[in-house]
Amino acid sequence: MTGPRKQIVLGAYLGGVNHHTVWSDPAAGSQIAFSSFKHVARTAERGKFDFFFLAEGLVLRERLGRIFDQDVIGRPDTLTVLAALADVTDHLGLVATLNSTFNEPFELARQLASLDHLSGGRAGWNIVTSSDAFTGANFRRGGFLRREDRYVRAQEFLAIARRLWNSWADDDVVADQQSGRFLRRPDAGAFAFAGQQFEVSGRFSVPRSPQGQPVILQAGVSPEGRDFAAGGGPDAIFSPYWTLAEAQPFYRDIQQRAAAHGRPPGSVKILPSGAFVLGDTEADAIERHHEITREQISGRGAQILLETVWNRDLSGYDPDGPLPDVDPEPEAPLVIQGRARLHQNVFETVARWRAIAEENDYSLRQLAIHEFGHAEFVGTPTQIADRLDSFVQNDGSDGFILGSHLTPGGLDEFVDRVVPLLQERGSLRAEYEGTTLRDNLGLPAPASPATRAAG
Ligand SMILES: Cc1cc2nc3c(=O)[nH]c(=O)nc-3n(C[C@H](O)[C@H](O)[C@H](O)COP(=O)(O)O)c2cc1C
Repeated sequence: MTGPRKQIVLGAYLGGVNHHTVWSDPAAGSQIAFSSFKHVARTAERGKFDFFFLAEGLVLRERLGRIFDQDVIGRPDTLTVLAALADVTDHLGLVATLNSTFNEPFELARQLASLDHLSGGRAGWNIVTSSDAFTGANFRRGGFLRREDRYVRAQEFLAIARRLWNSWADDDVVADQQSGRFLRRPDAGAFAFAGQQFEVSGRFSVPRSPQGQPVILQAGVSPEGRDFAAGGGPDAIFSPYWTLAEAQPFYRDIQQRAAAHGRPPGSVKILPSGAFVLGDTEADAIERHHEITREQISGRGAQILLETVWNRDLSGYDPDGPLPDVDPEPEAPLVIQGRARLHQNVFETVARWRAIAEENDYSLRQLAIHEFGHAEFVGTPTQIADRLDSFVQNDGSDGFILGSHLTPGGLDEFVDRVVPLLQERGSLRAEYEGTTLRDNLGLPAPASPATRAAG
């Protein structure tokens, strides 16, 4: 390792009801009450986190046409929750996952600029690009967008949003009570855009916000997703990689792509999301992790998780018995709807799973726990601090987006026990240095082009 110590970027997320959370724990609270969001956000701010993060689920997942209660990803509207959180926090960034396929650029740009105003410059936008027809059925157009066009639309969407945010200069609102002049120029907010996906023009209704533009994050690691992150201008990208062997090449790849687009080093932050389990000793932590995963993945839950790959009804297979002896049916109508399809070749996945189950003598449920019930960081506070820090210092990532199996109190022990250790070693701020999310992340404020144009 060379160079100065990198500062670890930290985001906090709050999970819904699914196999990552344990809603039945007596200490668990509501997934939807404002008190839960407020608790997690305030805890994150106490731990000097950079931002609070909300994922987005626009559909309720279904199994054979019915909602199943072990995987309800229903969530209240992201921007509404974040706007309310702006009032009960002071420094924490507020990052909304919002889809570029099922929204309109004008509307979203307006909402995000409004959140940036309301929060004093703490808004962020995680652009996601899901395009499936199942999600689309909730919207006017159905599944209208071809997969190949997702990033065309996302790129145009972001270009328009930026044009709208740049349509007002920092100093366009004069509000001079003496002279009675409110605006500096009569054409503030004017915009026009014509592309493959959009043709829009008009006047943007929100004056320039404190950050000029919200911070942009993106989730998606396909080559198109990587190019979009590196060249299209997102300030951060989620990474699904947790081992240094996988994470370092991804990190280098994104940095190289960004450099090829003329972006300075460090201008795209790379952030894996994951969960932790703490214990007083390593053995305690492993035991606790084991108990938590048993709670997260019931026998029924295990059948359903494997159905996402088998695409067959597996309810007749004993969770404590061997893996199903039948082949997957990828071409059949989907058994599980609304879940991202993470396995491209299900036959390969099933073959790999069979080998793992055979080698370890795993039951169906044990295999599901092994594959899906994983907390990325398990150990004592010192072990976890060491691992987070060395991952970042060795360029596996720039930080992490952390969640807990327990809503809303799970983050407390991380903040109480791990954060002070990171602060002691100088890898995490002891106090916030600025007021905006860009300040937290060390990102420069974008110039105000209309001011430049006006000279
Ligand atoms: C860490 C991570 C988090 C994501 N979160 C969401 C989400 O909250 N809502 C959503 O609709 N899609 C989400 N996605 C899906 C992405 O938007 C995208 O559709 C998917 O990653 C495929 O993109 P790709 O082909 O570029 O990999 C997420 C993806 C990743 C990797």
